[in-house]
Amino acid sequence: MSMRAPIAVESLVKVYNPHRPELAVRAVDDISFVVEAGQSVAIIGPSGCGKSTLLNILGCLDRPTGGRYWLGERDVAQLDDDELAAVRNQHIGFVFQSFNLLPRMSALENVELPLLYASRPRSRDAAISALARVGLAERAHHLPNEMSGGQKQRVAIARALVTEPSMLLCDEPTGALDSRTSRDVLGLLQRLNDEGTTIVMVTHDLVVARSLHRALHMRDGRIVDDGPSAVVVDNFIHLSEEEACKSERPSAQLGAR
Ligand SMILES: Nc1ncnc2c1ncn2[C@@H]1O[C@H](COP(=O)(O)OP(=O)(O)OP(=O)(O)O)[C@@H](O)[C@H]1O
Ligand SMILES: [Mg+2]
Repeated sequence: MSMRAPIAVESLVKVYNPHRPELAVRAVDDISFVVEAGQSVAIIGPSGCGKSTLLNILGCLDRPTGGRYWLGERDVAQLDDDELAAVRNQHIGFVFQSFNLLPRMSALENVELPLLYASRPRSRDAAISALARVGLAERAHHLPNEMSGGQKQRVAIARALVTEPSMLLCDEPTGALDSRTSRDVLGLLQRLNDEGTTIVMVTHDLVVARSLHRALHMRDGRIVDDGPSAVVVDNFIHLSEEEACKSERPSAQLGAR
């Protein structure tokens, strides 16, 4: 069993193109929070507010421009590329909207791949049991294009799980799925969370966000609300409605003054 670590970020900043002022984007702007081991956290907010950028930093796919990122005892913001890759392999499972499966490899081979990169022994057996955990043991030898969207996403989740990561990071995991299939995938993620895996999930789907423990609402690279998901989602809906009213009836607003 791998270590289960809380994660903490402090004054995290990510600036794209920092050396070209006309192109610089402050995608993550002074963010601090702690996620306890075993929590499930949704990240919501409008397109372009920095959700994927934040998730990529949490997943050690990218490095912050400033601030600190503690994964358990380690400040991973300071690590070099090789160390970062090792941390990623050991602690983090990533699930993307577009599945990112290799098309010429079977489900089983896709799931086994992270273990081969990490030179882990008995990788075939571990891949089979990860596929069984997502209910796809009988599809082990199918290619991705022989499977439905929901099945592909379950293979991708098995691939994320096979290294027994302490946390799963999901960027719109149900974004490409119809509502019934997305409920299945969500149920699977919920079960994994019940079994102890920490989950941080970017989602546009407020029903999905509400089903997690906690939500962070981002705007312009900042966290503007953080709390129980039901509360944060309700605030988010109210705010969106108010903004929609303002932008739909600018003349009425002016007339009222
Ligand atoms: N590689 C990059 N280079 C420069 N700017 C980038 C890069 N990636 C993202 N950005 C910018 O950073 C900001 C945050 O982008 P990000 O992808 O994190 O948003 P998001 O909240 O995930 O949006 P969406 O909901 O559309 O996926 C945006 O303004 C975007 O244009
Ligand atoms: Mg995104």
